[in-house]
Amino acid sequence: MYFLALHTIKGMPDKPRATRPLPLANRRLLPCSSTFGSGLLNASTTMRYFIFLLSLAVFPALMGCGGTESGPAPATPPPPASGLSSTQLENGVGPISTLELTPAIDAALAAQGEEIFTTKCSACHKFDIRYVGPPLGEVLATRSPAFVMNMMLNPAEMLEKHPEVKAMLAQFATPMPNQNLTQDDARAVLEYIRAHQNSAPNSAE
Ligand code: HEC
Repeated sequence: MYFLALHTIKGMPDKPRATRPLPLANRRLLPCSSTFGSGLLNASTTMRYFIFLLSLAVFPALMGCGGTESGPAPATPPPPASGLSSTQLENGVGPISTLELTPAIDAALAAQGEEIFTTKCSACHKFDIRYVGPPLGEVLATRSPAFVMNMMLNPAEMLEKHPEVKAMLAQFATPMPNQNLTQDDARAVLEYIRAHQNSAPNSAE
C-alpha cells in the first residue's frame, strides 16, 4: 500500500506532461506512466478498502470498550469504611450490645436518672435546644437505647470509631467526656431521657 502510494506521488508530475507530445526518450516511460495511472486507481481503491476494513475492525473494538465500561454495576455496595458491623452502627460501640425497653416508663428509675442528668449532663445537654452538645428531646427517634447507653458509658471509643458520632464531633467541636457512670446510673439516665422524648406518649413531665 505504502509502496503504491509512493509511486502515485512520484507519478503525479508525469501526468500533465503526458498530454503534450513526449520527446522520444520519454516515450518509453509512457507505458510506465499509464501503469502509474492504474497504480493511482489501485491505490485509492485499496486505500478505501483499507479504511473500510479498518472501520470494521475499529468500530466493534470501540463498542467493545464501551461495553465493558458501561457494564453492569457491582451488585453489592462497598463495605462501610468504618469497619463496624451493622449492629455496631445501630447500637454503638461499648459494653451494651443490645437493649430492649419495656413499653411503660419506670417513673422511679426516671427520677433517679434526673438527679444524675442534672449533675452530669445538663451543663451540656438540653432537651429542646442545641447547647454544648445536641438536644436530647428526640434522640431516641434516631438512636437505639443501646446507642445512647454506649454514648454515656464509652464516649471516647464512640467518638473514635462510630462514623455518625465522628460527624457530630465535627459539628459540635467538643468531645463528650466520660462521666464515669455505672451501667445502673446510665440505665436510670436513659429512663429519664426516655420520659422526656417529645414524641413519648406517656411523658413523665
Ligand atoms: C462537656 C459537655 C458534655 C457533657 C457533660 C455530656 N455530653 Fe453528651 N455530648 C456532648 C457533645 C459535644 C456531643 C456530640 C458529640 C461530640 O462532639 O462528642 C454529645 C453527644 C451525646 C449523645 C449523642 C446524641 C445523638 O444525637 O446521637 C448523647 C446520647 C449524649 N451526649 C448524652 C449525654 C448524657 C446522658 C450525658 C450525661 C451523662 C452527657 N451526654 C454529658 C457533650 C457533652
